[in-house]
Amino acid sequence: MIASLSLILGTAAAVARAAQPGAVEPVAAPMRNLTWGQLNFLHTTDTHGWLGGHFQEPQYSADWGDYISFTHQMRKLADDKGSDLLLVDTGDRVEGNGLFDASTPKGLYQYDIYAQQDVDIICTGNHELYQHYSIEREHNTTLPNFKENYVASNLDYVDPETGNRSPMAQRFRRFKTKNQGLDIIAFGFIFDFIGNANNSAVQRVEDTVKEKWFLDVLKEKPDVFVVTGHVGLRMEEFEVIFKAMRQANWHTPIVFFGGHAHVRDARRFDSMSVALASGRYMETVGWMSVDGLKKTGDVETEASPTFTRTYIDNNVLGMYHHTGLDESSFHTDKGREVTKMIDSARKELELDRRFGCAPRDYWMSRARFNEDGNIYKLLMDEVFPDIIVNEDRRNESRLAIMNTGGIRFDIFKGAFTRDTTYIVSPFVSEFRYVPDVPYEIARRIIGILNDGSRIWASPLLQSEIFHVDNDVPPRPNKFMSAPEQQAHPELKRDAADNLVKKLLTSSAGLPPPEKPEYMAEPQRDGQTPLRSQPDLIAGYTTKDDFGDDGDDTVHEPLEFYYQANAFQSDINFPPNHKEKPETVDVVFIDFIQPWIIPALKFSGGDYSDKDVLKYMEGTFTSKLAEWVGENWQGDC
Ligand SMILES: *[C@@H]1O[C@H](CO)[C@@H](O)[C@H](O)[C@H]1NC(C)=O
Ligand SMILES: *[C@@H]1O[C@H](CO)[C@@H](O)[C@H](O)[C@H]1NC(C)=O
Ligand SMILES: *[C@@H]1O[C@H](CO)[C@@H](O)[C@H](O)[C@H]1NC(C)=O
Ligand SMILES: *[C@@H]1O[C@H](CO)[C@@H](O)[C@H](O)[C@H]1NC(C)=O
Ligand SMILES: [Zn+2]
Ligand SMILES: [Zn+2]
Repeated sequence: MIASLSLILGTAAAVARAAQPGAVEPVAAPMRNLTWGQLNFLHTTDTHGWLGGHFQEPQYSADWGDYISFTHQMRKLADDKGSDLLLVDTGDRVEGNGLFDASTPKGLYQYDIYAQQDVDIICTGNHELYQHYSIEREHNTTLPNFKENYVASNLDYVDPETGNRSPMAQRFRRFKTKNQGLDIIAFGFIFDFIGNANNSAVQRVEDTVKEKWFLDVLKEKPDVFVVTGHVGLRMEEFEVIFKAMRQANWHTPIVFFGGHAHVRDARRFDSMSVALASGRYMETVGWMSVDGLKKTGDVETEASPTFTRTYIDNNVLGMYHHTGLDESSFHTDKGREVTKMIDSARKELELDRRFGCAPRDYWMSRARFNEDGNIYKLLMDEVFPDIIVNEDRRNESRLAIMNTGGIRFDIFKGAFTRDTTYIVSPFVSEFRYVPDVPYEIARRIIGILNDGSRIWASPLLQSEIFHVDNDVPPRPNKFMSAPEQQAHPELKRDAADNLVKKLLTSSAGLPPPEKPEYMAEPQRDGQTPLRSQPDLIAGYTTKDDFGDDGDDTVHEPLEFYYQANAFQSDINFPPNHKEKPETVDVVFIDFIQPWIIPALKFSGGDYSDKDVLKYMEGTFTSKLAEWVGENWQGDC
């Protein structure tokens, strides 16, 4: 209840100066307190290079240096209380922010900055594994940086020279906590990922849990098992691990830490096992406390653990609150030094170089698909008609199609910088086209792409092959969103072949809907807005297996709207709307080609990959940056 929440007053805000220079100031808000237990955890996941924090969102504006100060102060609190604190990270540290992507080679500054934090248990995400290069860096940089803290239960490194396969890191880690000497056994899993480069090898989780080493470890009697994994809490892999562990060992508490789904979530497996997922992009630091653990050597009593969880908004005001410190006492030398490292890396990379000023916010899911302020509407109505031009085909009518998943983040009012381009669209997608397609055929494509419920809902096209990093909120229709698809054309090819077969034999496949069927109503998570609080900042209002009091900051709920799979711009159509062109050029972003060709076939057009040509020079991202430079020249 609000009355019992302590309120940070605005005085701190005036002096809260850490984070990155140029980042917005955090805003005071009503806070919930952390509950400490015997054993406590701070959890980061899917940071995707956002070590500089969020420059335009006050509630997530702390940087990695602030997090280092925070963990230092929290470890001190743990020492004072005689409890223990462990830091966990569950992967996807790379790709998705200029700090990682803008350097040559990638991650030139990132690895060193990240390694300034002392993480106790660290594992690998799929984004560390797409590129040969990032696997090498994981092996020759992150691993030595974290040594015995790095755990790889089902991941091997494959030596590119010899082809020799060996564990990426130790399969599990056993250690005693600092203050209570709690006996911990930790694992580090990744979901059954198949899109990895060939200098790594992922073992299916269901196979790993049958291995002798794993079964042997389960015979041990630690005080607690900690299962870290780059696995969504509701994905099958954690289920498989939990069942295997409980079969072998009934009595030991298990704490899971997951990721990949980019959401705040907590799950109860049984009375002694819970799981936590801590969001994405350094928006969230997850907190988990466990109390009522049996002490090592205490053979008389059973453990009867209790668990609490909190999702901490990543800003310094919250950190001051949870540590009971203020601007003058909170920051450590190490923290400030790391803040400086990030700032100078950003300067080297010219991430603040401004292309223009966004006149307002443009949302991926906080605005309806067809509403002003929706990012796809901006692209459809304003950007595409300007940028989708091939001089030789300038006079042809054309349809330009892109998937909504090709956009990774919102655009905020204010400076649109080099950094923004990496954040909004880190992909290197180009435009291709099929010339002179009869309009009667071409016009059906978008409906097919957006018919998520039927054709594209095939498990093959969804989870089996395209393990996407879901954005918040989950979008059921979203079938192509992550770089996975770009990295693995051959997988798309298989999926597409299968799809064609399915389409051609399916009786369900009659006229596709003309209009995308996306939902127009907000997908509220059900919490009632706290209107009585005057200036709540909009943010996560999480509901999980523990209830709805998990967010450390009381937020005004965000509106989330489901979005279509793909969007389309009609360009250079006859001015008289009743008149339709005979033929059009079908222009599309390259990585949806495996869906475009079947959709054309399905609409009665006999086209194949041979009919596809390059449409124009430049990537979507570079064209967007040019467009911003020409069209958003206001002040900010
Ligand atoms: C939170 O902790 C602070 C400091 O210990 C205390 O003053 C405040 O009353 C607590 N708030 C709640 C809601 O328990
Ligand atoms: C690590 O691997 C990368 C990519 O192959 C390479 O460029 C770099 O020199 C290696 N670093 C070390 C310390 O071996
Ligand atoms: C691994 O992939 C690289 C580049 O894709 C290729 O050159 C190499 O031959 C592959 N190695 C093996 C063992 O398949
Ligand atoms: C497009 O139309 C204009 C005006 O009718 C004409 O001058 C131009 O040559 C045409 N361009 C092409 C590439 O056909
Ligand atoms: Zn991720
Ligand atoms: Zn992931």
